[in-house]
Amino acid sequence: MDKQILIQIAISLVAGNKGLLAMDESNGTCNKRFAALGIPQTEAYRRDWRELIATTPGLGKYISGAILFAETIHQKKKDGTLIVNEIITDGIVPGIKVDTGAKPMAGFPGEKITEGLDGLRERLNEYYKMGARFAKWRAVIAIGNGNPTRACIEANANALARYAALCQEAGLVPVVEPEVLMEGDHDLQRCFDITDQVLLTVFDQLYLQNVLLEGILLKPNMVMPGLQCKQRASVNEVADATIQCLLQSVPAAVGGIAFLSGGQSGEMASAHLNAMHVRHWSKLLWPVTFSFARAIQQPAMSIWRGEGNNKHEAQQGLYHRAKCDDAARRGEYTSAMEKA
Ligand code: 13P
Repeated sequence: MDKQILIQIAISLVAGNKGLLAMDESNGTCNKRFAALGIPQTEAYRRDWRELIATTPGLGKYISGAILFAETIHQKKKDGTLIVNEIITDGIVPGIKVDTGAKPMAGFPGEKITEGLDGLRERLNEYYKMGARFAKWRAVIAIGNGNPTRACIEANANALARYAALCQEAGLVPVVEPEVLMEGDHDLQRCFDITDQVLLTVFDQLYLQNVLLEGILLKPNMVMPGLQCKQRASVNEVADATIQCLLQSVPAAVGGIAFLSGGQSGEMASAHLNAMHVRHWSKLLWPVTFSFARAIQQPAMSIWRGEGNNKHEAQQGLYHRAKCDDAARRGEYTSAMEKA
């Protein structure tokens, strides 16, 4: 492990006002998104969608790194060249999702444990050779029915830390993603408390596993009330709660924070990220940016709908969301940008 190289990669991923584009949906998740829009759920359509993203002109202006799924890093464009090469050519660092999914946790109804540690060292070495310089592992924590349990939080935090240590050994920056889910009727305070507990547990485990904090990125959820909670929170309340939570649970040494969108609309995710910078810029201990999947892809996918004729317009939609998120990182996003 070369610490300086890891730190340089982490710095490059959060440099300027850029952020990450997560395009690493598993086949099951990607197919689910396709099904909702009537797009055929085949490898060819997944290839076309990922090719559409990778060939979006100028995306590298706003996107520093793209997280790929295993299928995509091996996949070729229609012209026979690798999709990953297109990404690299645009100045975007390729990353790879390496967990093998969140599975029901034995003995803990309603909770999940993320798998994928077996054989991970070998897979990481292979992905490094293919050009990947960072990786992602997502743990999910659900709120409700007495959950989450300490057992679930600790097991997931331990797996995240062991994954992170293996990534650094292989020369890849680990994106550490402990996602507290938005489903549920819990309020803002409950999300705050669970997110805080989860992050403190994750950093305890990262410390135990000798992970270099300067050489990781944290990918957390924003602190928000559950989707079914009647008491909604304003954009400023979400921004304030999120930053307060991170300030008390994330060490200053961490290379950067890159939020997941968790099912928020593109506009909402941009507005929240923007408010964090407008209201808390001087207090932030780390670069704070985005690593959105749905909040960047979804509007574009709704335009595309699997039709080649819609490709150009869909790429414009994707570029627009990335541009809005770049502006949000500067605290310069406004709803007027959506009309432009
Ligand atoms: P969303 O932004 O859609 O939450 O996805 C982020 C991600 O990478 C989930 O693992």
